Amino acid sequence: MTFRFNFSGSSSDETVTPPLIEKSISDYEQHQALSIKCEFINLENIKVKLPSSENVNVMKCAHMEIKYIKQNEVARLGELETIEEKKSDLVPGKYEGGLKVWECAIDLTQFLIENNCIQTGNTVLELGCGVGLPGIAAYIIGGIVTFQDFNSEVLECVTAPNVILNTIEEEKTSVSKKCQFICGDWQQMKHKYFCGKQKNNKYDYIITSETLYEKCNHRKLLDLMKAALKLDGIIYLASKVHYFGVGGGILDFEKLLAKDNTFDFSTVFRTEEGVERRILKLSFKNIM
Ligand SMILES: C[S@@+](CC[C@H](N)C(=O)[O-])C[C@H]1O[C@@H](n2cnc3c(N)ncnc32)[C@H](O)[C@@H]1O
Repeated sequence: MTFRFNFSGSSSDETVTPPLIEKSISDYEQHQALSIKCEFINLENIKVKLPSSENVNVMKCAHMEIKYIKQNEVARLGELETIEEKKSDLVPGKYEGGLKVWECAIDLTQFLIENNCIQTGNTVLELGCGVGLPGIAAYIIGGIVTFQDFNSEVLECVTAPNVILNTIEEEKTSVSKKCQFICGDWQQMKHKYFCGKQKNNKYDYIITSETLYEKCNHRKLLDLMKAALKLDGIIYLASKVHYFGVGGGILDFEKLLAKDNTFDFSTVFRTEEGVERRILKLSFKNIM
């Protein structure tokens, strides 16, 4: 089954020289990260492959059902370079885990739905969306959602088809009015779309899950959030407390938030089922 987007956004070939180099990231990883272009994905001419119904999972939460492609089918559809990359959770600076649903994505999706966080017409940016469940919940509610991921392949083969699976028939030709897709690194995204002359509209909400596993990425994630959020906007960030074997986690990010002193933040959800996980709510400090 295929679906063709009626996508009005334009794709640009412009590349941006990043002004800052993260000190703690290796040169190799930095090079890999920045060699991935940051751009809107123009889906107008690509065929979005939809799975057959037996290859679709349904997540039920309150009154909502969210459909998404099953993991096995994702591995088949994904067009990342090697099988190794598809089997691995992470290949730093190359493939950052966007093909599978991580636990905090479920926590965040349930939290957003159960607490009616997002309303029709709100603009929402999901950073590091991968499969995109929280962003799709926002989309179903009526939010206007930008899905961002490191890998264009993830957006094209997984996120976009998932959005289509959750779009009613009559709205399939106007999907691009309600959502858009941006690939690339957070640092480049900030400089390309939120600094200098080309200032994009800022967002009512930024949502993100399982994106704190690399401590060396915390600063660029925070800087992008600061640049892309409206002054009265809200961020919901879902993360494990600690990522064993990788190093990052929510405690380190909280230390950075305290030092940076831009956002007020509080824990709005916490669970110790399996691995300890939390959701943080952030808003700009009221500086008079
Ligand atoms: C562990 S996955 C989590 C995916 C999804 N949010 C979830 O919870 O299921 C981390 C996601 O963050 C994105 N990501 C990681 N580092 C990034 C970076 N430096 N710039 C942009 N996206 C990044 C990856 O592409 C990946 O989809």
